[in-house]
Amino acid sequence: MPIKQVPAIAIDIGHSYLKIIQTGSNGQINKFVVHKMPEGCVDDLNISSEETLIESLKKAKKESRLPSSKCILVLSGSDIIARHFTLPKLDEEDLYQNILHEMSGYLPVDPEKYYVDYKIAETVEEDGVQMYKVLVTSASKRIINGYKKAMKAAGFAPKIVDTSENACEKLLRYNNQVNPEFSIEGGVCFLDFGTKYTRANLYNNGLYYVSNDLKRSSQSITEVIAKVAGKDILTSETLKRKNDYLSGTHENEELSKAIKYEIDSLVFEVSRVFDYFRNRTKNTINTIYLSGGGSLLQGLQPYLEQHIGIPVQYASGLISRDNVKKNVDTTGFGILLNAYAATYREEL
Ligand SMILES: Nc1ncnc2c1ncn2[C@@H]1O[C@H](COP(=O)(O)OP(=O)(O)OP(=O)(O)O)[C@@H](O)[C@H]1O
Ligand SMILES: [Mg+2]
Repeated sequence: MPIKQVPAIAIDIGHSYLKIIQTGSNGQINKFVVHKMPEGCVDDLNISSEETLIESLKKAKKESRLPSSKCILVLSGSDIIARHFTLPKLDEEDLYQNILHEMSGYLPVDPEKYYVDYKIAETVEEDGVQMYKVLVTSASKRIINGYKKAMKAAGFAPKIVDTSENACEKLLRYNNQVNPEFSIEGGVCFLDFGTKYTRANLYNNGLYYVSNDLKRSSQSITEVIAKVAGKDILTSETLKRKNDYLSGTHENEELSKAIKYEIDSLVFEVSRVFDYFRNRTKNTINTIYLSGGGSLLQGLQPYLEQHIGIPVQYASGLISRDNVKKNVDTTGFGILLNAYAATYREEL
């Protein structure tokens, strides 16, 4: 199933930043905005303050001078449940009934309260019988409808809801499609350093496999700085962005040590997810791609590479240079990755 670049607007609503991107017909980035939202607007996909969210969406829309056209909403979080099932090749209706039946066991409450969607990832043969391997995604209707309502109130027309897991899969496969030398064989991991979580999305042979929300995040590093340096959160946030605590020796050795300890704990969490992946798939993770605002932490890329022992790259490198307007520095584009990846379309 080929992946295509199409003109689109995609919105990624995180715990602290709202990211909007508009792409053109060959995937070039025409407009983008990274808008800081007031604290406590959303929490684990729940909208804590609808009014504040609408206000932020309106401001970001105005800032980017976007039209009120249709857009894609990209979400991620442990409340979005994605599972693989291998099911007999059935007609559409019977397949969907089977999927609902299989998925109901994974849903914490009444299945009626969930949207359930699926895609056929591949056709496999089991004991001589052709089977579909389907990726099923479900999300609470309350959550999805809440976001749609807020977006409509802010002048957007949400048409598609995507997940970061699926969006990054499209990005990986697109890169392989246009450049077969870009290998997607074996395991690939996207590490999205968000405010509240570091999300690990793992892919096997170019197909989404599993994801996990890890507790150590960009915010935990700010908190470590606040605690060890005895500073307020705002000052700690500035210090975090300004200094390289990870490479070489830092004048404040105690602080540098504490931050390294936090990253080492994250590395431990990551390696446990990798162990799970290796045991299940018998494949190893070959590359790690860093995204999210927290990936901009100075010295993080070489530190992770050294401590995990796997090539670590910035996911912004997967956004082709041709797709970025001239003279734009793409280093910081990792923060836009989920939104950018969601603009790709998968031909079914
Ligand atoms: N230059 C920088 N250096 C270090 N950290 C940075 C930098 N710029 C932004 N960050 C951090 O990135 C985080 C925000 O990133 P991002 O927008 O990806 O998170 P989010 O999507 O809002 O959160 P989540 O994914 O948890 O919902 C903040 O914690 C911020 O401190
Ligand atoms: Mg995020």
